Amino acid sequence: MRFAVIGAGVIGTLHAETIAHLPGAELTAVVDVRPEPARSLAARYGAVALTDLNEALGRPEVDAVAICTPSGHHADLVQAALAADKHVVVEKPLDVSLEAAFRVAAAERTSRRRVTVISQHRFDPASQVVFEAVRSGRLGNVTSGSAIVSWWRSQAYYDSAGWRGTWALDGGGALMNQSIHTVDLLVWFLGEPVEVFGWTGCLAHERIEVEDTAVATIRFAQGALGVIQATTAAHPGMNARVQLHGDRGSAVIDDDRLAYFHAAQAGESWPDVGAGSPDNQADQLLKTDSPLAPRVARLQHTSHTAQYEDFISSVTNDRPPLVTVQEATRTLAVVIAIYDSARTGRPATVAGPDTSNS
Ligand SMILES: NC(=O)c1ccc[n+]([C@@H]2O[C@H](COP(=O)([O-])OP(=O)(O)OC[C@H]3O[C@@H](n4cnc5c(N)ncnc54)[C@H](O)[C@@H]3O)[C@@H](O)[C@H]2O)c1
Repeated sequence: MRFAVIGAGVIGTLHAETIAHLPGAELTAVVDVRPEPARSLAARYGAVALTDLNEALGRPEVDAVAICTPSGHHADLVQAALAADKHVVVEKPLDVSLEAAFRVAAAERTSRRRVTVISQHRFDPASQVVFEAVRSGRLGNVTSGSAIVSWWRSQAYYDSAGWRGTWALDGGGALMNQSIHTVDLLVWFLGEPVEVFGWTGCLAHERIEVEDTAVATIRFAQGALGVIQATTAAHPGMNARVQLHGDRGSAVIDDDRLAYFHAAQAGESWPDVGAGSPDNQADQLLKTDSPLAPRVARLQHTSHTAQYEDFISSVTNDRPPLVTVQEATRTLAVVIAIYDSARTGRPATVAGPDTSNS
């Protein structure tokens, strides 16, 4: 699959490198509205440098685009690419509003091309193992979960590009930009989100419109209850953690690694009172249960590479990718509902899929 990377900034550079090193993929063009970043990134891989997306979309040697621009441009660019018959990899978040996400879903439905939204941590071995443990019932009835991101972004980070920290182009702050990965894991594990209640604040930064700290509670359709904490105001910058608990087991992913896993064996009896994280089965489980573990260990840009492999395989084998537009929209809907709740001071319903023209 021959790719054009659109947006030669921080993450566009990683996409270009990922594509260039991936068997079955080739980087043919780099597009950026600023000529110099496009030129220097393209030169590194022998690709052509362009400043206009339409020039890339008109080229037969471009089969797919990787959209790595500020978030509020994503939907427009995906729509343009689909209209030109290109497959699309688009960075998270899908866009900054549900209206934009629904436009992408409608455009994909009427196209002959596929779209995946980057959520690379779904491809981490730890995430794969935990998803499978939930799906197969190893944790029993999952009762609660949490997604905690305690990161630090300096004022200089927010000042480094005009779009950062704006509602129109970043779509939000610590929750929408940095923590959506971790929220996506929680939602992937626990299924249909129903309702949230949230608070947000901008507590350690200035000159941004959005929050640097958000907390929320969340309720899922199958009954599980969850907690979300997202901040870029936690100096010096700590971990991202997902914790799940069921009546047969618990799992903790800490900074993308499976830090703790314990599931009761069939018929195993357990003391009436339990605490203290006994018998960590994580290492054992990763050795035996993760089909991705050995492959991912070899790769430098691990999870983006794994997501690209999944996407190329989805096109080749005519199946949906692991992260579809619908899945990304569901996670986006959680983030947007938390913002709604924080604005109104009331619980907010998480929007379901757009069924208006399906
Ligand atoms: N998956 C991840 O871990 C991850 C990490 C970082 C960023 N991101 C996402 O990637 C996107 C970009 O973030 P970044 O940090 O790389 O931003 P950035 O500011 O470093 O780079 C964005 C680039 O896009 C270019 N650009 C802007 N509008 C354009 C257009 N219409 N056409 C072509 N080029 C255009 C800019 O000139 C800039 O070079 C955001 O949506 C962000 O959420 C994802």
